[in-house]
Amino acid sequence: MGLYRAVARPLYSLPPEAAHRLAQSILSLPLPWERIGGTPKDPALRTSLAGIELSNPVGLAAGFDKSCRHLDALGRLGFGYVIGGTITRDPRSGNAKPRIARYPGRGSMTNAMGLPNPGAEAAARTLSRSPRSGPRLASIADQGPGEVVATHALLEPHVDGVELNASCPNVSWGRDRDNEAHMALLMRELGARRTSPLFVKLPPFRSDVEREAVLALARIAQDGGADGLTCSNTRPVSDRRLSVGAGGLSGRGLFPDTVRIVGDVRAATGGALPINACGGVFSAADALACLDAGAATVQVYTGLIDRGPRVVRDIVRGLSVARSGRSLAPSSPAGQDGTRPGGLRREFGATAAAGERRPGPTGGPGGRPAGRGPEALR
Ligand SMILES: Cc1cc2nc3c(=O)[nH]c(=O)nc-3n(C[C@H](O)[C@H](O)[C@H](O)COP(=O)(O)O)c2cc1C
Repeated sequence: MGLYRAVARPLYSLPPEAAHRLAQSILSLPLPWERIGGTPKDPALRTSLAGIELSNPVGLAAGFDKSCRHLDALGRLGFGYVIGGTITRDPRSGNAKPRIARYPGRGSMTNAMGLPNPGAEAAARTLSRSPRSGPRLASIADQGPGEVVATHALLEPHVDGVELNASCPNVSWGRDRDNEAHMALLMRELGARRTSPLFVKLPPFRSDVEREAVLALARIAQDGGADGLTCSNTRPVSDRRLSVGAGGLSGRGLFPDTVRIVGDVRAATGGALPINACGGVFSAADALACLDAGAATVQVYTGLIDRGPRVVRDIVRGLSVARSGRSLAPSSPAGQDGTRPGGLRREFGATAAAGERRPGPTGGPGGRPAGRGPEALR
């Protein structure tokens, strides 16, 4: 039995939040995380994400390490980059429990955490004391622009970039406001201050109305100077097992949407911004599909819970093999030097970006925020 299985198998018999707490305690131990992860280093997978140099394009999505206490151990498992948070200006305890429900055997779960986190000052202290073994980002969100700016200012000195979470389905702010005006204001405020790359994490979309609303947000982020976009967050669903009756679906159920959304957002933003694909990425084949659709990197959360830390190794190893198998493919006209914006060399991916005609950034049609109302779990 491998070291991970021996240490972590019992986690699966615990309720989700207890398992998560135990996993966090294990991550605090001085274990050989590189060996446990076993992730190979392949120079061919090096990726520049908006100027942040990554050893591979597989990131840890926001929300796994909400306190930013375990980013070093998580990075050493082999992630190309890790995201801590989401952090708000003041500490939050989040929603009442239960706030995570699993769908056993389906590689999916629903959460209604409500952004519990220690607050920006505590997170900044933690980050200032923890080793920086690899690239790390902080995810931030808040009620008002003043709080977002304050959180950004506190955290930015300790990370390589910031991801603005403009898409959490489990908090009430944002539901009743004009999302486009709010996004434009946030981008103005942050754009004037930031000194490192700023990413915006968008909600997912399914219907045409949602699509127009999210693409409008993407263009506003782009026009406001965002350095990259993350597509996407969880999808709102009903679940009576959660205290609040609804939450955000994550995992396998999102994957087909993820690939489609990456392609749509890439086209809407003219291919000018790197996109981090997030939602249901469990394998190298999933990651390749996202990269082929135009993503520069992928982010993983539920796959880590479902498959354990070796999921990073498996994805990176698979990408490495695919990369070597495809290296003789004709180079693509996507970029002058054969690279995607912020991404891997084109021969690594397939043909999605080849010959694409990209519209210039335009103001999108208005629309209500995407994915707001809970829907039945399919
Ligand atoms: C329990 C849980 C907590 C999460 N918390 C956050 C969060 O604080 N901030 C955020 O931007 N995304 C959060 N997410 C969303 C993930 O970052 C990711 O976007 C989503 O789960 C889809 O990826 P996946 O299918 O690989 O899990 C959370 C997801 C889960 C399952």
